[in-house]
Amino acid sequence: MKVFNFIVDIQRFVEDKRNEGLKIGFVPTMGALHEGHLSLINRAKKENDIVVCSVFVNPVQFNNPADLEKYPRTPELDIEKLQSAGCDAVFMPSVEEMYPEKVDDHYDFGDLERVMEGACRPGHFNGVAIVVRKLFEIVTPDRAYFGEKDFQQLAIIKKMVNILQMNIEIMPCPIVRENDGLAMSSRNVRLNAEERALAPKIHSVLKSASSKLNTMSPQEMKDYALSKYAEIKEFEVEYVEITDENNLRSLNDWRDSNHARIFVALQLGPVRLIDNVRILI
Ligand code: PAF
Repeated sequence: MKVFNFIVDIQRFVEDKRNEGLKIGFVPTMGALHEGHLSLINRAKKENDIVVCSVFVNPVQFNNPADLEKYPRTPELDIEKLQSAGCDAVFMPSVEEMYPEKVDDHYDFGDLERVMEGACRPGHFNGVAIVVRKLFEIVTPDRAYFGEKDFQQLAIIKKMVNILQMNIEIMPCPIVRENDGLAMSSRNVRLNAEERALAPKIHSVLKSASSKLNTMSPQEMKDYALSKYAEIKEFEVEYVEITDENNLRSLNDWRDSNHARIFVALQLGPVRLIDNVRILI
């Protein structure tokens, strides 16, 4: 596997592959790789000739400086894991390489960015769009792979690709969970043993709430999930939302959507965790 730190070098690599007529699959990450990321690499390998991964902790998408500072960074381990997974190239730029000057782009994602993560983390999705656009322009992939744990991010990236008319297929991939149901996340390593033991409740509450479709309205389901989370004093819930999957608008009536999801964001000890589950209407 090739490891590139500079834009010109990864550009030369992908250009050569393109000239050979090869299809490029791309997995953008912020590193601290886990099985969830590796499942994206595996899928990209099946569907493309070449797989490129990026590892870059993107400062412009962090609205909380402490979160940026504490974000886990394990570059050597990431390289080993990517190599074993059969990734062809990894792009690991420095902040100076990616942002030689301050970037001031502003995107308007409309209602998509006014709810949930967009409402709780002002500027976050603009920062995600800035880096993903830049990475897409550097790597020029045919397909790019994103996990559904960051479901709203996926919707934002699809919209960005539409706005910019980029010829890249965005491939959503299912959430990968630990055996006890906790959604895999690079942030999980920051939970202590006690917090880690409570964390699977995040998913089990979503699952039990989503199974009450036939007996509860969306508001009742949301209240049910909130009441279950309130039983665990270590959980500081930021939001529980039930929305249509496509436009992410809050649902008042199941008849208003064919595809709904229930979402949660909560603080557990030092870590902010998110999760979501599809509601089978
Ligand atoms: O999901 C992530 O890890 C990041 O938001 C992404 C897409 C790599 C952009 O920095």
